[in-house]
Formats: sequence, C-alpha cells, structure tokens
Amino acid sequence: MARVRCQGLDLELAPGETVLEGLQRGGLRVPSSCRVGACQTCVMQARSGSPGAAAQLGLRATQKEEGWFLACQCRPEEDLEIGERTAPTVAARIVEVHPLGMALVRVRLRTEETLSYRPGQFVHLERSDGLIRAYSLANLPGEDLELHVRVHPQGHMSRWLAMVSPGENVRLRGPSGECFYRPDRPEAPMLLVGTGTGLAPLWAILRDALSQGHRGPITLVHGARDVAGLYYVTELQALSRTYTQLRYVRCVLEGEAEEGLEVGDMTTVVPRLAGKLTGTRVYLCGDPERVVALKKRCFLAGASMKDIYADPFVLATPPVSI
Ligand SMILES: Cc1cc2nc3c(=O)[nH]c(=O)nc-3n(C[C@H](O)[C@H](O)[C@H](O)COP(=O)(O)OP(=O)(O)OC[C@H]3O[C@@H](n4cnc5c(N)ncnc54)[C@H](O)[C@@H]3O)c2cc1C
Ligand code: FES
Repeated sequence: MARVRCQGLDLELAPGETVLEGLQRGGLRVPSSCRVGACQTCVMQARSGSPGAAAQLGLRATQKEEGWFLACQCRPEEDLEIGERTAPTVAARIVEVHPLGMALVRVRLRTEETLSYRPGQFVHLERSDGLIRAYSLANLPGEDLELHVRVHPQGHMSRWLAMVSPGENVRLRGPSGECFYRPDRPEAPMLLVGTGTGLAPLWAILRDALSQGHRGPITLVHGARDVAGLYYVTELQALSRTYTQLRYVRCVLEGEAEEGLEVGDMTTVVPRLAGKLTGTRVYLCGDPERVVALKKRCFLAGASMKDIYADPFVLATPPVSI
C-alpha cells in the first residue's frame, strides 16, 4: 500500500483508506467538512508522488499543476509526500451580521488584501481555532464580501456566525467553484435555480449578468419549504420590474399558489416552468439532493452538460472535524 509522509508523520494507508482518514488516524488535524469532494475544505499539496486524477476533480488547472488535491478523495497508488497542509488564506474582518429571516443571516466582511474572485464563487471561511466551512459570495466586486448563512441548531460555524460581533477576525481561502457569469453569450437564456441560501451565488450571478448587459431571458427560481424561508423577495421583484427579461419565481413546498409563487417540489416545478433548455446556461445551488436531481432533468430538457454549473451545499459528514 502507498505510504504518506506529512509534517513528520510517515504512515502506510490501509486498503481503501483516503489520505484524509490516514492522516487523521495518525493524529494530524486536517480541516475537512463534506468528505465527498464537494467543499474543497481538505485541499492539500503534494510535494512528490501523484495524488491521482480522482483527487483533483473540480480544482483549477493551475492548482492541479501545482499538486493540490482533495485529501478526502485521495487513495494514491504511489507514495505521497505532502508539503502544504492547506492553501494560502487572506485576513478578513466581519463588519456586519444582519438577520435575513428565520435562522438566516447575512454576514459582511472586508479583507485586508485584495481577494480576486468572480461573483458567485465560494470561499472557505476559517475561524481562529481552525474550524473551516465553505460559503458562496453573494456580492459584486467593489461591495463588501457578502455571505448568506442558514443557521443550523447544531451547526458549529453557522451558530457562531449568527452571534459573532462585528470586528471579529477570520481568514478566507479561495475562491473556488465554477458558478459565475460568463459574458461570452449575452443573448443566451439563463436559468438560475436555488433552494434556501442557494440564492446567495445566484444573487451575485444575476446582478453580475445584468450589470454586464446580458440581453437574453433570465429565469430565477428560488425555493424554500414555505414563504418564511424566502428572502430578498422585494429586491428581486424590483429587479424584475426594471429588467423585463428577468422572470423571478418563488417556489414553496407548503402554502397557497399565487402570481409568481409556485407550490410544489422544485424538481417538478422547474422543468415545467423552464420548458426546453437547448442553448440555456443553467446554475443550480443549494440543497444537494435537489441540485443532483435538477442537473439530470435540465440535461434531459436539452441543456448541454458543459452549460450546467452546480454548487451542491454539501454539509459536514460526521464526525465533524476541524
Ligand atoms: C460549495 C459549498 C458552498 C456553500 N455555500 C453555503 C452558503 O452560501 N450558505 C450556507 O448557509 N451554507 C453554505 N454551504 C454549507 C456550509 O459550508 C456549512 O456546511 C453549513 O453552514 C453548516 O456548517 P456548520 O458548521 O454550521 O454545521 P456543522 O457543525 O458542520 O454541522 C453539524 C451537523 O449538523 C447537521 N447540519 C448542519 N447544518 C445543517 C442544515 N442546514 N440542515 C440539516 N442538517 C444540518 C449536519 O448533520 C452536520 O453534520 C456551502 C457548502 C458547500 C460545499
Ligand atoms: S472536499 Fe474534502 S472534505 Fe469536502
């Protein structure tokens, strides 16, 4: 079996064991969250040896060339020496925590150094004790960084973010992800679908598209269990009045249907609303199950796989680790 060397630790991986599991068994603290290759929290850099293609899925070409890989997906076939345990971070200060609804807060941050990103990408927010989680950027360049955070009763980071005082220092790593506006086809239809805080990247992508003069029709569907779970409704309704090519639809599981408000599961409502998706750019964010189901349905409705961008908000897999 392959041996892994990292920070003075030298161990042989057990059959089927990932680098993340091996290093944690050896007593090293390696940040991780989803453990399924979605959040990129466990990114590490190989100094020698190949981590394998499966461990580099979703990383940028430059990151792959530099040997970065996802430890939770890495079952190397050859010995691996690990240099950096985490990617570089920038210092940031929380400047505002504002309630957006039930168990939902907006967090605004400012960085000390410039963070280059595309609106809609996600960053990793790291607390001073090393706890780290992925959050999508809802702002446009030039604005404070904006996160929309669903507060979970047992959530380590989200509960802390909901109560933290402005002035608190954190670190940000990233950006990551492919969910951002591409200005090369300004006439192309766009379909943006998100559940809960899955609206965060879509809010950024939508405003980015409009500010860059996108002319094609845009449909944004925001889903939640009930209307209390929806937010930025007034802002989105105002945008759809200003930009006639924008259709904004709310979708809830429970409640009475009305103009602009659909009742039903997103996985059936969205294909019905969207119709044929040939030539459409599709963005799917939020609840992982719905993202996966909708990706399939959008493909079957004619969207090309290369035009479907998805960020499933996969949660930490217990045991939750920092
Ligand atoms: C690419 C990406 C982008 C993301 N962007 C966002 C974003 O913009 N906004 C956002 O709010 N989140 C986002 N997330 C999710 C985020 O990274 C955290 O997983 C989430 O905030 C919960 O972290 P926590 O530390 O509060 O909970 P943890 O301490 O990690 O959770 C403890 C346990 O509680 C359970 N749990 C936690 N939260 C929930 C929940 N909401 N529903 C059901 N069970 C739960 C899980 O079983 C989990 O194992 C994103 C995730 C990914 C992968
Ligand atoms: S990608 Fe490895 S922990 Fe999420």
